[in-house]
Amino acid sequence: MEVDKKEEIASETSSEQVVNPWEVSAKDGGRIDYDKLIDQFGCQRLDESLIARVERLTSRKAHVFLRRGVFFAHRDFNEVLDAYEGGDKFYLYTGRGPSSEALHLGHLIPFMFTKYLQEAFKVPLVIQLTDDEKCMWKNLSVEESQRLARENAKDIIACGFDVTKTFIFSDFDYVGGAFYKNMVKVAKCVTLNKAMGIFGFSGEDHIGKLSFPPVQAVPSFPSSFPHLFPGMDMLRCLIPCAIDQDPYFRMTRDVAPRLGYSKPALIESTFFPALQAKNGKMSASDPNSAIYVTDTAKDIKNKINRYAFSGGQDSIEKHREIGANLEVDIPVKYLSFFLEDDAELEHIKKEYGEGRMLTGEVKKRLTEVLTEMVERHRMARAAVTDQMVDAFMAVRPLPNMFE
Ligand code: TRP
Repeated sequence: MEVDKKEEIASETSSEQVVNPWEVSAKDGGRIDYDKLIDQFGCQRLDESLIARVERLTSRKAHVFLRRGVFFAHRDFNEVLDAYEGGDKFYLYTGRGPSSEALHLGHLIPFMFTKYLQEAFKVPLVIQLTDDEKCMWKNLSVEESQRLARENAKDIIACGFDVTKTFIFSDFDYVGGAFYKNMVKVAKCVTLNKAMGIFGFSGEDHIGKLSFPPVQAVPSFPSSFPHLFPGMDMLRCLIPCAIDQDPYFRMTRDVAPRLGYSKPALIESTFFPALQAKNGKMSASDPNSAIYVTDTAKDIKNKINRYAFSGGQDSIEKHREIGANLEVDIPVKYLSFFLEDDAELEHIKKEYGEGRMLTGEVKKRLTEVLTEMVERHRMARAAVTDQMVDAFMAVRPLPNMFE
């Protein structure tokens, strides 16, 4: 309840920075203040000790996204780890709104990270494709949203998920039965006033939008998946997501105890910035603001060279003298997401920051890293057949999902 109060204050005083599932904009077009977001939303910072604990429990080095602060906030992740340490498993839940054919790099981040969590903790995963959501928000037809959901499923599968531990579902296909019963239970707990406070709905919005939050809420409850978790009603759920999805799960966590369910835990990421770094995240509507998984090597090179905002100085002399401003530099930022080698990243930051390395050299390294990554993704996606999509999306038990 305390969290809810914070949330209401946050939405009243958000004249400067707006972060919700539909809008991410920083104050005066600047950068998102993530510390402030943690305070506003009432979540917790993911600190070093928690990361060390993940390494201990999984006996492997923490993922780059943890080491470099890409996943930076959480809710009750410590509790999930406590339980795990005591021998209790959990399941993972994430999702995607299929609004476009091609995914950009920002879209891959939660899936890359979820794949790591699945492998490291050996736990099952459910992936929700909210074709209904995008049909209602993006004015896509039902058929087109469903088609996009299947296309996007191929990109998701290409991230390397284990079919023996992963259930992917489209809302249009799967909603019903136990899932729908949970939706109704959730819906009964949320007043219109409350939904307007959390999501900013207004009298002009169609009622389809109002009906959607329970759909995204209930995959947090194991009883929504009777084919996966029969008799495991108290199994905990951990949701990796970008922090703009937090409002859905604040609502979910608020109602869970009233339904006798446990609250889902969350692990939340920052946004992946646009090449131009103007606002908080890559946008699917401006093709030059993002690198897509369908971009060719030439596209990637051109986009980075032309559009990636540089913290380097205007003249070589000045650059050699004072070095690059790493805080605003997009090539360095992107490398910090995708260059795995900690020592190389440190080396680049030092050399570039002190002016010995030039923007062109950093951009060249970034081009190599992203080209390789996108190429790998392209090959993996080309290998995903329709039968594989059907296999991931089949409503079936996953007998060895905890092994
Ligand atoms: N609403 C999300 C989107 O537009 C999709 C989604 C559904 C999701 N369930 C989720 C994202 C759970 C993260 C975690 O992309």
